Amino acid sequence: MDAQTLENTAKAMVAPGKGLLAMDESTGTSNQRFEKVGIPTTVEKRREYRELILTAPRLGEFISGAILFDETIRQTTEDGKPLIKVAIDAGIIPGIKLDTGAKDLAGHPGEKVTEGLDGLRDRIAEYVQMGAKFAKWRAVITIGKDIPSLGCLEANAHALSRYAALCQEGGLVAIVEPEVLMDGDHSIERCYEATEKTLHILFDRLYTQRVVLEQMILKPSMVIAGKDCPQQASVDVVAEATVTCLLRTVPAAVAGVAFLSGGQTNELASAHLNAMNVRFKDILPWPVTFSYARAIQQPALEVWKGEEANIKEAQKALLHRARCNAAARNGEYSQEMESAV
Ligand code: G3H
Repeated sequence: MDAQTLENTAKAMVAPGKGLLAMDESTGTSNQRFEKVGIPTTVEKRREYRELILTAPRLGEFISGAILFDETIRQTTEDGKPLIKVAIDAGIIPGIKLDTGAKDLAGHPGEKVTEGLDGLRDRIAEYVQMGAKFAKWRAVITIGKDIPSLGCLEANAHALSRYAALCQEGGLVAIVEPEVLMDGDHSIERCYEATEKTLHILFDRLYTQRVVLEQMILKPSMVIAGKDCPQQASVDVVAEATVTCLLRTVPAAVAGVAFLSGGQTNELASAHLNAMNVRFKDILPWPVTFSYARAIQQPALEVWKGEEANIKEAQKALLHRARCNAAARNGEYSQEMESAV
């Protein structure tokens, strides 16, 4: 794969007015979300759900790329069309989740390291052959007493960098996702510190592993107080803290920044992204967009409930969130959009 093709793909993933749809929940995560709304946790229900998403009319107007899970990339619609082909025909670039999950990090109670490097070169070759154009790897960083530790940040940065280098060698744009979790009662200041340190170490390791910044997308979490913190910062404060943190740590050569939603409410995820693009549009060196899972899909899942009769309404709910976030990508989202469903 030539460098220009990877750069072009990366640029298309963060194109104006578009963002990424993370629909790569592992079987376990997907089942947990299904259980909460009473949907049977079967392979067939997961297939139906992914078909519902990818066949939503006009999705490609707002979604540049979709991150798929291994199960999904091998599935077809009910009438036999490969789901990856459905995405491509809708103008959506197909991507694949490559990590195999976060596991306990030895010697570091309460911390995780993401696995999946063994055999990765061969897995990449298979997914490229299937038509994938980009990939994702998520590292999980927890804030708590005396954590994140240097050991955790270094282990995850190393794995992310090795993954990204292998992606680029094999012909995939790498989405590099270091998620600082919102779980806990920490302040926004602690989140800032942890995120800054995470990104600083990460970009040092990406450099060491010779990852080409123009061929990767950073998928960070926003700088935000923990879910249980009594002092929640305003939208403007979150936007400012996040942009400040990224400006200090993320090289301008990175092709784009696409945030995860991390458990924020749907509306706040849109509002925060919008505020960054409105207030800092003149100084942001990279396109700033979304790569949300819950903040796009959750309403659709709740409307669908696993029933065929609800598919159209669920697709409308999905499209609404995709449209709101696409507007936020351009700094054109407003609260009024929420009532215009
Ligand atoms: O890896 C996590 C997902 O790609 C993003 O999910 O937007 O629900 O945090 P989220």
